[in-house]
Amino acid sequence: MKENEFVVITATEVHLQHANTICNEMAESAKARGTGIARRTSEYVAQKMLDGKAVIALHKDGRWAGFCYIETWSHGKFVANSGLIVSPEFRNCGLAKAIKYKIFELSRQNFPNSKVFGLTTGLAVMKINSELGYEPVTYSELTPDEEFWKGCKSCVNYDILIGKDRKNCLCTAMLWDPVEKSKEINEKMKKLSHKSSLLDRIEDKLKKSAKSILPFFAVNSKILQD
Ligand SMILES: CC(C)(COP(=O)(O)OP(=O)(O)OC[C@H]1O[C@@H](n2cnc3c(N)ncnc32)[C@H](O)[C@@H]1OP(=O)(O)O)[C@@H](O)C(=O)NCCC(=O)NCCS
Repeated sequence: MKENEFVVITATEVHLQHANTICNEMAESAKARGTGIARRTSEYVAQKMLDGKAVIALHKDGRWAGFCYIETWSHGKFVANSGLIVSPEFRNCGLAKAIKYKIFELSRQNFPNSKVFGLTTGLAVMKINSELGYEPVTYSELTPDEEFWKGCKSCVNYDILIGKDRKNCLCTAMLWDPVEKSKEINEKMKKLSHKSSLLDRIEDKLKKSAKSILPFFAVNSKILQD
């Protein structure tokens, strides 16, 4: 992505003019991919902008370039960053990555205790999610919120999901769990402090043995001088 060519920011009411274009592009892209998506109306997208739960990318000349929004499930226990879309004219220049990083940051700021998850068949999204630290999980780790699963009804693979008793489908589920992440950080910190105390002990030993052999060197250098 060329620096300064785009802005990637939290959407507000000044971006409502783009809601329709965004919805149409979401529908067109889903058609082209042959997949279904949880179809959203432009009112829904507009409301996300008004609620401060969306990220928009714009070209410096004002053209809409990309979008993504936040959804909360199970009373805020889970958060999904959904509806990622980049305008076809601006694809493959790092915009999806920039948008996903921004919406992840926004999600963590507003919902610090929520698990962040995504369901996708897209390799680009899987790559970005992995970079952000998401882990692949089974569907049983995701929100049990019926409203979320209703969104799958407009997907062409819905019969597969139901046939598999909602245990799996063609989408890969990925999860970023704040509790697991803080455990990981604590483990790393423990290892680091163990290493540093080991280094301290080695340093102490070296100092002590240096002290004990210094007189020997002093005597020998005196003999040599004499
Ligand atoms: C998928 C989509 C969002 C990617 O947007 P983008 O701005 O072109 O993606 P980026 O340039 O940020 O690429 C991010 C990474 O994904 C890779 N990537 C991009 N498009 C890809 C594709 N179609 N297939 C495989 N990998 C892809 C890039 O190479 C890059 O990987 P890298 O970091 O190893 O170089 C965009 O093509 C799009 O809007 N598609 C239609 C809607 C859609 O599929 N949304 C996702 C729903 S889950």
